[in-house]
Amino acid sequence: MVQAGYFNDEFIHHFVSKCSRRSPLINIGYYVRATIIDFTLHTFLTDVSTQPAQIVSCGAGFDTNYFRLKSGTKLHPTVVYYEVDFPEVVERKSRIIGDTAVLSQAVGVPDDEPRDIELKARQYRLLACDLRQLDNLESVLRLAGVDFSLPTLFLSECAVTYMDEPSFQSWPADVKSLVPLLSLVIDIIMLCRSSSALIRWVSAKFDRAVFAMYEQVYPEDGFGIVMAKHFESINTPLFSLATFPDFDSQEERYKTRGWSSCVSRSAWDVFINITDSAERHRAYNLEPFDEMEELHLKCCHYALTIASKGFITSLLNIPSTSPPRISAEESEHIRWLLRKTDANIDINRFAHTTTRLSETDGYLVVGGFGHFSGKKHGRRKEVLLSDNGGVRVLDVSFTCEEHRPEVSLDAMHHTCTDLSGTDSAVLYGGRTWPGRPVNVWPVVLTLETIGSDPPPESSDNVAVRALAEVKAPASGGETPRSRYRHSAVCLVSAVDRTPKNYVVVFGGRTETFQVLGQLSFLLAI
Ligand SMILES: C[S@@+](CC[C@H](N)C(=O)[O-])C[C@H]1O[C@@H](n2cnc3c(N)ncnc32)[C@H](O)[C@@H]1O
Repeated sequence: MVQAGYFNDEFIHHFVSKCSRRSPLINIGYYVRATIIDFTLHTFLTDVSTQPAQIVSCGAGFDTNYFRLKSGTKLHPTVVYYEVDFPEVVERKSRIIGDTAVLSQAVGVPDDEPRDIELKARQYRLLACDLRQLDNLESVLRLAGVDFSLPTLFLSECAVTYMDEPSFQSWPADVKSLVPLLSLVIDIIMLCRSSSALIRWVSAKFDRAVFAMYEQVYPEDGFGIVMAKHFESINTPLFSLATFPDFDSQEERYKTRGWSSCVSRSAWDVFINITDSAERHRAYNLEPFDEMEELHLKCCHYALTIASKGFITSLLNIPSTSPPRISAEESEHIRWLLRKTDANIDINRFAHTTTRLSETDGYLVVGGFGHFSGKKHGRRKEVLLSDNGGVRVLDVSFTCEEHRPEVSLDAMHHTCTDLSGTDSAVLYGGRTWPGRPVNVWPVVLTLETIGSDPPPESSDNVAVRALAEVKAPASGGETPRSRYRHSAVCLVSAVDRTPKNYVVVFGGRTETFQVLGQLSFLLAI
């Protein structure tokens, strides 16, 4: 992210030795997060101006926030920056700081460290403590010089969500309605080990505090399920996610634990309100990037939650462009019927097409990108047919071999348009990666029955395959530009009294990111 030019961090390479190459989507996701955290810190520092204040970064890991603030002269001499993490993390961080001249210089001359404090300098203090042990946390903070009466920002950037948290999800509704009351009992029963107990403890101990938390939300939709599973699979489950799954419950979490104000908003909402379009344009154009929807989806699964007590922070007033939230009761107008499909077939994907076949009364699924079970993710090349409630993978045979390099069944952002009254659909356009458009010539996919002549009444268990015919452009005719993210629809029009199917293609994007406005007609059959 830093190497690709999204975000300026001249210190990170001291802490992270190996820079892995990541996709533009991942890079921009990190850039959004870093931009929001930077904004949070700068806004708090502007709020406190020159008055004495403190920042306590919970689970700071190897982040470089202190060093960037210090070198950018953003940290007024009256502010002290504390970082708390597990002993093994802070020991390593302290060692790196000690071994690196530029970092030691930013920290200044350390005091003789009292026991339990890894590093104590005038403005920077590194503390080894498990945040679940609140008694210990209090004594370590006191020892390090924390003043419980000063304005203090508690920052948790993807950190406290890893702490234990009891889940109310499976509890009966009438019990759930008692949650504010129960939360107190549970924070106590949990022996103060949960992230919510920490949130309650901060509000009880500090007279003037702000809690800024950046963490995941919405674990129950498609993206959220994959996200939660991912963190489980790498052995770092997000414990808060089930209990505080959305913005309302995040706000409730603070308001029922001693905080007088709380606002929780999606990272996307915050990001587009704290950056200008020129900056966003710069970031989106650093690498070939065409996954705006996925970026939006990802950023809507992270929340910035700001809570305050005894201190007025302008962080509560970040403008919002989101439409008003719809409550769960209001949003139940559409009832989804979720059907499980054959577990043997990996059907997860996005950026694919689903096309109805009028004759078969089924639908074709072509292309897209998704996870393969047990393997990494990638483009999906199997064409799926769903009919009679099941899903099967179709064999696809091509009628003209020599054009196959032009064809990509594993495209993304293509169209597949059903031809009225037939079992054929026209696959057109799409891309593999953003600079490589495919299916520049339309491909007619036709469903055919194998070994059953005539076809039986019911198509249950009938063996079928798809025939793919690449349609070369007529000589002398104008060939439309290659494109993806276009739209297409079938029109039936009578020519010499014979109805013919036309596929009408409109707009789209080219490999050079040009946005097209041409309307093209493909005479399909
Ligand atoms: C995903 S890392 C985030 C690090 C940093 N905030 C950042 O954004 O780069 C989570 C950090 O929280 C720390 N952490 C998790 N649970 C903790 C606990 N109970 N006490 C102290 N630190 C904890 C981990 O050690 C880790 O450094």
